[in-house]
Amino acid sequence: MEGTFKRLYAASLANPGAFWGEAAGEIAWFRPWNRVLDSAGAPFYRWFAGGELNTCFNAVDRHVEAGRGAAPALVYDSPVTGSKAVYTFAELQAAVAELAGALGRLGVGRGDTVVIYMPMVPEAVFAMLACARLGAIHSVVFGGFAASELAARIDDCRPKVVLSASCGIEVKRIVEYKPLLDAALATASHAPTRCLILQRPECPAELDASRDLDWKEWVAGSRPVDCVAVAATDPLYILYTSGTTGRPKGVVRDNGGHAVALYWSMKNVYGVEPGETFWAASDIGWVVGHSYIVYGPLLNGNATVLYEGKPVGTPDPGAFWRVVAEHDVKVMFTAPTAIRAIKREDPDASCLAGRSLGGFRALYLAGERTDPATLEWAGAKLGVPIVDHWWQTETGWAICATCRGIEASPIRPGSAGLPVPGVDVRALDAAGHEVAPGSIGALAIKLPLPPGTFLGLWNAEQQCRESYFASFPGFYSTADAGYIDRDGYVFVMSRTDDVINVAGHRLSTGAMEEVLAAHPDVAECAVFGIADEIKGEVPIGLLVLKAGCARPVDAIAAECVASIREQIGPVASFKAAAIVNRLPKTRSGKVLRGTMRRIANGEPWSMPATIDDPAILEEISRALAVLGPQRAPERT
Ligand code: COA
Ligand code: AMP
Repeated sequence: MEGTFKRLYAASLANPGAFWGEAAGEIAWFRPWNRVLDSAGAPFYRWFAGGELNTCFNAVDRHVEAGRGAAPALVYDSPVTGSKAVYTFAELQAAVAELAGALGRLGVGRGDTVVIYMPMVPEAVFAMLACARLGAIHSVVFGGFAASELAARIDDCRPKVVLSASCGIEVKRIVEYKPLLDAALATASHAPTRCLILQRPECPAELDASRDLDWKEWVAGSRPVDCVAVAATDPLYILYTSGTTGRPKGVVRDNGGHAVALYWSMKNVYGVEPGETFWAASDIGWVVGHSYIVYGPLLNGNATVLYEGKPVGTPDPGAFWRVVAEHDVKVMFTAPTAIRAIKREDPDASCLAGRSLGGFRALYLAGERTDPATLEWAGAKLGVPIVDHWWQTETGWAICATCRGIEASPIRPGSAGLPVPGVDVRALDAAGHEVAPGSIGALAIKLPLPPGTFLGLWNAEQQCRESYFASFPGFYSTADAGYIDRDGYVFVMSRTDDVINVAGHRLSTGAMEEVLAAHPDVAECAVFGIADEIKGEVPIGLLVLKAGCARPVDAIAAECVASIREQIGPVASFKAAAIVNRLPKTRSGKVLRGTMRRIANGEPWSMPATIDDPAILEEISRALAVLGPQRAPERT
């Protein structure tokens, strides 16, 4: 660590109250806080208790009041529909205030929940901000999830209203959202009072007059409403993420800590100034989209790009560089998988030729570890620093990064950088003792977590305590493992739970196993992630059939693949399952997923001392050689 960064980092840990109290001075408050950090409910800490503000006011209205109403705020670029639009802060304010008025007419108010199930269209951003304006709590559900995942979220957060659209547009197909929403509501036990449906010309939906309203008709001419004051500690949103079971975890974010931390991160982590264009090529259904498509850039007065397209195929692997050049993007954020997809289709970066990226300063990557080869390729082709940074839905912003806005510390390939101010990361052994530098341990963060991190899990306080705070008292368990080198650089290597990372998307193998186990012919199953050149990891399944089952095995495997797509969603990318006679287990009955994963990936593996029957692994190796990346398993 070097001078300025080192000083700031030390100050943030020595006196978090003073550090974040000063940062909070940059946010507009309707009422000042009584205490910066309230530790009374530890391990659940509260930031800026007693304070009142409105997140939408800080993200939108405040810039208009400061005379920046004509500055661009939201840049919509949609190669899949061939449309582009720029909304200034004043236009954004008008659209959001009108939609908030329309939601108010549906009875939505402070503390109510609203589900947003929408593609990457400006109305989705208006919807999030309109909820914030009213003090309502939004819960955005990613479009690539299946109806049953949507139903589970609806039942957990019980929305007063659902906001959706008739369709989303993928590269090769139109995804009809409305039938998915109808199917979800048919199975959910909770019923929202109304669904507001945005009709898209690419595929309008049939509306159910008893429940659905046409978005444009309902919103048109609604009386704009002002921002309401909410408590800093009131929830702004719930965002569901995968845990180890089929039940998604509703991560709850506050208003005050979130606004302070995200505003601070734009300047200090990403080094962008108000008025500059920032682009997070993600989806509003993920935490990256919440924090860095919507809230972070707008809080900082940046123009933010909302991109409805893919890194490749819309129309070519030069799409990202076109957007950077055309909208004068200064700093961009995406997942390594997107860069790998571009690299595969355009290894020489010929799509960059003749395109000036102007003032493009840095590319930030997260969602999974950036492998050094991808980092090196992107750095060489783009000629800007490539910054890997590590974070989670729960933390809401970076745990580790290179804070280029403070100091451009050297980048170590393979590392997610240094812990950011406010975050004290340690690598611990099973007993909770710190391991030596360079040794792998469970990565944990010493409490308190900084502002902007989660308040807890919606409707699941006990589960939250057990999942995150029980393993290492006084610490938050990240469920990631890795090591910290002598200079403090953190290397995040793997998850310690049953979560896998598919194209930067976090998915639960436990949830997939629940779906497979429900197949009438399946007695037992195991799902685990295997290496994939583009997506990092993809899930595969091994199935043991019920005794006496005489149906063709290929048909059963195909039905299992189809049921994951139907019940979890296409985003799971579950494409392969094989039937085996038995699963390898320890003598205590634990399925040896780690050994199977190593065999499938062609990594060195050794016979586990506790295996109940070593002969099984030969059959498993044969099955995996067909399913896996086709490398010869190597036993040491
Ligand atoms: N709505 C509906 N379906 C969706 C969807 C959405 N919003 N997003 C993805 N899907 C579908 C895709 O159409 C695909 O379906 P298919 O099986 O019929 O082809 C499936 O889900 C898997 O999608 P995806 O993971 O996007 O894989 P892909 O092969 O289409 O594209 C990449 C590969 C690498 C280009 C793509 O994964 C990508 O752009 N990743 C970036 C990830 C990212 O931004 N992560 C956020 C963290 S920063
Ligand atoms: P999500 O909550 O969907 O953002 O996923 C969070 C998980 O993604 C983390 O717990 C890590 O396992 C992984 N992850 C995210 N960013 C990184 C990174 N830069 N390096 C390594 N793993 C990462």
